[in-house]
Amino acid sequence: MVALTEKTKKRLTIQTGEIAHQTMTIRSMDWDRDRFDIEFGLQNGTTYNSFIIRGEQTALVDSSHEKFRQLFLDTLKGLIDPTEIDYLIISHTEPDHSGLVKDILQLAPEITVVGSKVAIQFLENMVHGSFKRRIVKNGDRLDLGNGHELEFVIAPNLHWPDTMFTFDHKTQILFTCDAFGMHYCSDSTFDEDLKTIEADFQYYYECLMAPNARSVLSALKRMDELGKIGMIATGHGPLLYHNLEELTGRYRTWSKTQAKAETSVGVFYISDYGYSYPLAQAIASGITKTGVAVELIDLRGPLDLQELRELVGRCAGIVIGMPPTAESENIQPALSTILGSVHEKQAVGVFEAGGGDDEPTYPVLTKFRNLGLIQAFSAIQIKETPGEATYKLCEEAGTDLGQLVTRDRSIKNMKSLGNDLDKALGRISGGLYIITAKKGDISSAMLASWVSQASFQPLGISIAVAKDRAIESLMQVGDRFVLNVLEEGNYQRLMKHFLKRFAPGADRFEGVRTQPAENGSPILTDALAYMECEVVSRMDGGDHWIVYSTVYAGRVSKPDALTAVHHRKVGNHY
Ligand code: FEO
Repeated sequence: MVALTEKTKKRLTIQTGEIAHQTMTIRSMDWDRDRFDIEFGLQNGTTYNSFIIRGEQTALVDSSHEKFRQLFLDTLKGLIDPTEIDYLIISHTEPDHSGLVKDILQLAPEITVVGSKVAIQFLENMVHGSFKRRIVKNGDRLDLGNGHELEFVIAPNLHWPDTMFTFDHKTQILFTCDAFGMHYCSDSTFDEDLKTIEADFQYYYECLMAPNARSVLSALKRMDELGKIGMIATGHGPLLYHNLEELTGRYRTWSKTQAKAETSVGVFYISDYGYSYPLAQAIASGITKTGVAVELIDLRGPLDLQELRELVGRCAGIVIGMPPTAESENIQPALSTILGSVHEKQAVGVFEAGGGDDEPTYPVLTKFRNLGLIQAFSAIQIKETPGEATYKLCEEAGTDLGQLVTRDRSIKNMKSLGNDLDKALGRISGGLYIITAKKGDISSAMLASWVSQASFQPLGISIAVAKDRAIESLMQVGDRFVLNVLEEGNYQRLMKHFLKRFAPGADRFEGVRTQPAENGSPILTDALAYMECEVVSRMDGGDHWIVYSTVYAGRVSKPDALTAVHHRKVGNHY
């Protein structure tokens, strides 16, 4: 058996260092952060990066997660007397970067907090006390002296509504917090080794930024106006310096592709209420897997009702996160506008936010159905703190909605081909396999026939997995799974079971005999053989991921039996 990737022990450490003239970083390193947010798929931990810029005045850019309270504050005090900090710049108010704002203000009550209008509003609820503030708009500047003139770039939705970037004209560093980040924890402060980080960089983009592709393009445009950017100091993972152009170029390319999608869906959430935003994000992530663009809209944010009307009119579907009952009056104009702008045949889905005071979903759904909309998934109910299973359910619900709104196009594409080339391609045959995977609390399975041995040394296989498959999220680099081989003459029952359309979050293994492999994934007892595999890399193959994996264990139950083979007629669909 080949040794598996070693996992680091759980630990929290701090790294500090000078990244440019008069500019320090404090990186809170969370080596083994639990995977409870959808974007933590690659399980390489994360970092929360904070920065100190010293001109004649001093600014602290972002803080850290509250789990670093003692470590971060001790480190900060070792570097600077907190009362010497003049400004605390808030890139956005999510708790992994703003979790210690209150503590810092207690240490140094004279600090002026700098943020976008929305950020300062959110902070008022977080800090519960008065504090000096400076609300900034796009293009506003703050001169710290010694040449450190800071310029603010408002970048809403990257990935919170209140996000802004900060550009230091002296060092040419752009502080972007979540944008251009990745969940990757290592001792490297910078991005010198592109190969080791690119999978995490892309996965993070797909989860957090792809649903906001249009906002990414707007932010890139604003960045172009800043002049030369020498470094991007992100809030998560290594800072971009060695591969800055390459990696920002990838954001541009991916976002252009995403924004060009023919079909889009509006996903409405309520910021700062229950789990509305992360649930919306999980649904959005599932939708984008189908090649459909998403517009994530905060129902609490400043909304132009005319723009909202146009947006709803052009969307193929909408998803609504329920607002709190207590606030329904404020949200009502937006909800009425949505209801007044929808049209027949649009897809609709609703979800609770789990904030403890959610409006009921049933009346809203009924209104939409009465207007002729098609319900894409059952209303998502949130009874307790969402965990992996709930986020996965949301992602799968989003994928169902995406598939529904592209169904006609998929059928048309299928019919438009069928020429000689397709028939020739159909003569490529493959075996029949079931891939099974378990990661944390979630498990999944899919029938596969595009499987091939790909290397001897190491023993490796390639599998093509459609991008909108639920199991795709469990087949990220470093994930482990089982490849079950079906037996000729004895595969119909298993094939039929796994070809079924499962509801979001449904248990794929109900009624199927399994036993756990060493890697935790289910082995199908009735399979002819199985192999335990670990994903090494993924290549973009258009509408599929080509997943290359090493194989490190396996058994055959009937040495003389043959593998089931799948013969097709055409090669333009399964
Ligand atoms: Fe890394 Fe949006 O917080």
